Amino acid sequence: MFTRILVPLDGSELAEQVLPYVRILGKGLQARVELLRVFEPVSPSLADPAHGLYLDRIIASVRTQMQDYVENVAASLRKDGLTVSTIVHEGNAAASIVQEAETIPDTLVAISTHGRSGITRWVMGSTTDKVLHATSHPLLIVRVRDRPVFGPGVKLNSVLVPLDGSTIAEQALPYAVVLATALGLNVILLRVTLSAEDYPLPASDFAGYPLSRIEGLIEHGDAEAREYLETVCEKLREQGVDSVEGRVVHGHPGGTIIDMTRQIQDCLVTMTTHGVSGLDRWIRGSVANRVVRHSVDPVLVIRAMKDTPREI
Ligand SMILES: Nc1ncnc2c1ncn2[C@@H]1O[C@H](COP(=O)(O)OP(=O)(O)OP(=O)(O)O)[C@@H](O)[C@H]1O
Ligand SMILES: [Mg+2]
Repeated sequence: MFTRILVPLDGSELAEQVLPYVRILGKGLQARVELLRVFEPVSPSLADPAHGLYLDRIIASVRTQMQDYVENVAASLRKDGLTVSTIVHEGNAAASIVQEAETIPDTLVAISTHGRSGITRWVMGSTTDKVLHATSHPLLIVRVRDRPVFGPGVKLNSVLVPLDGSTIAEQALPYAVVLATALGLNVILLRVTLSAEDYPLPASDFAGYPLSRIEGLIEHGDAEAREYLETVCEKLREQGVDSVEGRVVHGHPGGTIIDMTRQIQDCLVTMTTHGVSGLDRWIRGSVANRVVRHSVDPVLVIRAMKDTPREI
């Protein structure tokens, strides 16, 4: 499922904050790591042959600098026993990352939220944003921190899989199983259900609607959700996951998922780009988009495919 971890680096320390996770995943999944450094095409206006500045030499020198950088990072990863190769590419960063991922089917792209521009008011940099919306490959997004934690301080303990009951959301499960079994992680399945105040009742009925009836509907919904999660838990146990539990929580999906990540230590959220609302558009404002933009913990985003028959 993951034979290569493609790690785009722009030379900044923020970009390198993805590396502790790459170490964990590379070792646990026995996947090879490929570091990718992209540089913008060098403008021909920089050349000045009259003064010995030839375009091809300028490009060659930029390429050498980039190559030295990725080779240094590679050497430090190799010391930890990882198999690492490097690529330096001239072009647009986001397009090159997406294209390079396409060359090998089982590629996981691992990227930081921010890079050279630093921690800005944007929740993520433009390259990560573009890759998120363009790639069909699983994408691990690591939120950068002001004060990074390095080395053994970075751990993974649990995989949180938000499920809305759709088979589309369940497409994240095979990835969670691979991660949990390879890295010995707990799996927590989360189903967020409506609370009384969000229950969709026709406005005219609401005033006179007996509260006991609404509570009954909610209890019924929760019982169904718990039963659903228990069925999924059982399937995951059959697939070799030792520790798996289901949780049903009331609230709004995006916010509740993010709250849950704060309660779980060393958590990796694994979810698909779409859920019960279908594959229409991977829109800003969708639950997955909200989680990716606001989770402090890393998020593995799986591009949802056309709805598939229920397998679990
Ligand atoms: N030239 C590049 N080569 C390889 N990876 C890159 C390159 N540019 C960006 N990336 C990857 O994308 C991540 C986020 O960088 P991004 O460009 O999105 O943010 P930024 O530089 O902080 O903001 P912006 O470029 O939007 O001003 C980086 O950490 C790095 O992993
Ligand atoms: Mg950038």
